[in-house]
Amino acid sequence: MAFVPIEHDAAKGRRFMSLFFKFNETQKLVAAIDSISRNQLKKNWEGKNEVKVYPLVKMYTFTLACHLFLSINDTEKVLKLLYHFNNLTDGILSVPLSIPGTPFHRATRAMESLRKEIYLIIKERREALANNLASPTQDVLSQMIAVPFDDGFMTELEIVDKILAILFGGEETTTATITFAMKYLSEMPHLYNEVLKEQREITRSMKLREVLCFDDIQKMRYTWNFVNEVMRHIPIVQGAFREVKEDITFEGYVIPKGWKLYWSVGSTHHNSEYFSEPERFNPIRFEGNGPSPYTHVPFGVGPLMCPGHEYARLTILVFLHYVVKMFQWEPILPNEKMKFKAAPMPAEGFPVCLSPH
Ligand code: HEM
Repeated sequence: MAFVPIEHDAAKGRRFMSLFFKFNETQKLVAAIDSISRNQLKKNWEGKNEVKVYPLVKMYTFTLACHLFLSINDTEKVLKLLYHFNNLTDGILSVPLSIPGTPFHRATRAMESLRKEIYLIIKERREALANNLASPTQDVLSQMIAVPFDDGFMTELEIVDKILAILFGGEETTTATITFAMKYLSEMPHLYNEVLKEQREITRSMKLREVLCFDDIQKMRYTWNFVNEVMRHIPIVQGAFREVKEDITFEGYVIPKGWKLYWSVGSTHHNSEYFSEPERFNPIRFEGNGPSPYTHVPFGVGPLMCPGHEYARLTILVFLHYVVKMFQWEPILPNEKMKFKAAPMPAEGFPVCLSPH
């Protein structure tokens, strides 16, 4: 079928994710994620009896993104950006009523503040690059400034928007996946035990080595099957639009050129033709050959597949490795409802009682 992406500029975002992996040797990337995971768990989780999982996981994914994409490590600065970012995501799917006090108004102002902050960061980086005080490959920002495209270098405003798109694409999605993974682990202790067993085996195989490496991640088979089942059960991204490039016929209906189509992740993931007992949570279905191609599509599929999927896998697995080894947790609100902002999330942020191992 002949579809084209609606965002014709998407190729640039995609190109930056591939440059990101090219310049960040995978082992260095895993080591950075390892260090920030441990640091966040020590700072914000250890020694607490109760925590709210969602905001703390968001703090982790956001701190990591600031470090890897923008080389920002100053906590104050990260918190300031996160404050604006939260206001943006809270209002992005709200009634477009721009009067003071509405989520939409707050989101619009947050967008302006983020644009200003990132604009200043770009200016500083340009200067640092010109004076050889920064490297052109050190992070996504430097690459955006230093690497030309067919149509030349990107302008400041273009870079601002690309950075925001990557942050927006990556933040809510990985945060929601980790949060729901932790929710399901607390509801199904036998799965928690399987994940813990696998992660402890990995630690044993590390012997004296303290930092996770890429081979360890590749061994996290059960845990990744479990995460895949989380993303199947609760589609983190609901779907995406495509524009019809030429008239097509689908089940007897003609869809004319120029129309917009929406492909839905959830209806594929819950289709009993592809997944037996689709409502049943069962990570085993991903063992062996797993589901048929094009049926499990949390990251989309084909040329427009999510460019951040490998980064998301590393971010999720490294964090789960440490959190299951350090704690067990129980929900404080067992029947907590779900709400939907940019991605689904537990309505109260998933408060839990923590017990250290
Ligand atoms: C569990 C985590 C994630 C999920 C479930 C997810 C899912 C998706 C899906 C379904 C799409 C649309 C694909 C399509 O149109 O066919 C997408 C696009 C995108 N994602 Fe992700 N994503 C995740 C994490 C990330 C991360 C970590 C980043 C960046 C660091 C990222 C950046 C993007 C970008 C930039 C696009 C738009 C690409 C384009 O317009 O061509 N995503 N993602």
